[in-house]
Amino acid sequence: MNRLQSKIAIITGGASGIGLAAVKKFLNEGATVIVWDVQTQTVEAIIKEQPDYQRRLQAMVVDVADLQAVQRAAEEVFKRFGRIDILINNAGITRDATLLKMTAEQWQQVIDVNLTGVFNCSKAVAPYMVQQQAGKIINTSSVVGLYGNFGQTNYVAAKSGVIGMTRVWARELGRKGITVNAVAPGFIATEMTQKVPPNILENIKEKTPLKRLGQPEDIANAYCFLASDEADFINGAVLSVDGGLIL
Ligand code: NAI
Repeated sequence: MNRLQSKIAIITGGASGIGLAAVKKFLNEGATVIVWDVQTQTVEAIIKEQPDYQRRLQAMVVDVADLQAVQRAAEEVFKRFGRIDILINNAGITRDATLLKMTAEQWQQVIDVNLTGVFNCSKAVAPYMVQQQAGKIINTSSVVGLYGNFGQTNYVAAKSGVIGMTRVWARELGRKGITVNAVAPGFIATEMTQKVPPNILENIKEKTPLKRLGQPEDIANAYCFLASDEADFINGAVLSVDGGLIL
């Protein structure tokens, strides 16, 4: 299918898990994909294995927490491709601890990547989208950003903040032809959830009406829909993709 034919898409955190599934999905749908990640080996490997992707896939080492680096990267993408149609703010980390045990450093690291990172990338890319009077920004929140979760003060603060920013930017940028939406994944089988104790994951599966964890492709499909022309009138929405889980 060609639902993203000729679109220029930046995917942050595209080197693993959900982001990597999104990279593959977007390439299959005809997009040109630029990955911003702190490690890019998996993406380099895809480019090596599939030379037809050489023109349509680029990996850039970019720390989303570094505004200047992100601004330089956005400029480079715009110079090379002449436009930026889609930004998927997907990069994220966890540093879990209860409030009583969480260090200021753990708090700050997660806020820097999961909240400030989304601000930085959107701030760097939005001016190009405004110039085009078109663009789609998709932010990655989480089921825990909606309902909270034990041991995740920093992560929940960031993921709730992402929903807030989505609603602000939907208002500010909508009039300039840009839509901003969020996806709130449930528990998805990636490296991130490998850190969750198995008994908790079993409990999550049990509580999920569909009785399974999500797969990275489940989220990549939602990103693709929201990034496609089919979602042109969807703005400021938070799409839960969690198999019906309510914590
Ligand atoms: P992952 O750990 O497999 O992949 C995250 C990617 O982000 C990695 O490639 C990593 O190198 C990159 N990254 C980390 N810090 C970065 C930085 N400072 N700058 C640029 N890239 C950076 O994680 P996963 O599971 O694929 O998560 C993707 C997104 O989905 C995250 O925002 C996460 O919070 C969110 N999410 C994941 C859920 C899950 O169950 N796996 C549930 C809900 C939300």
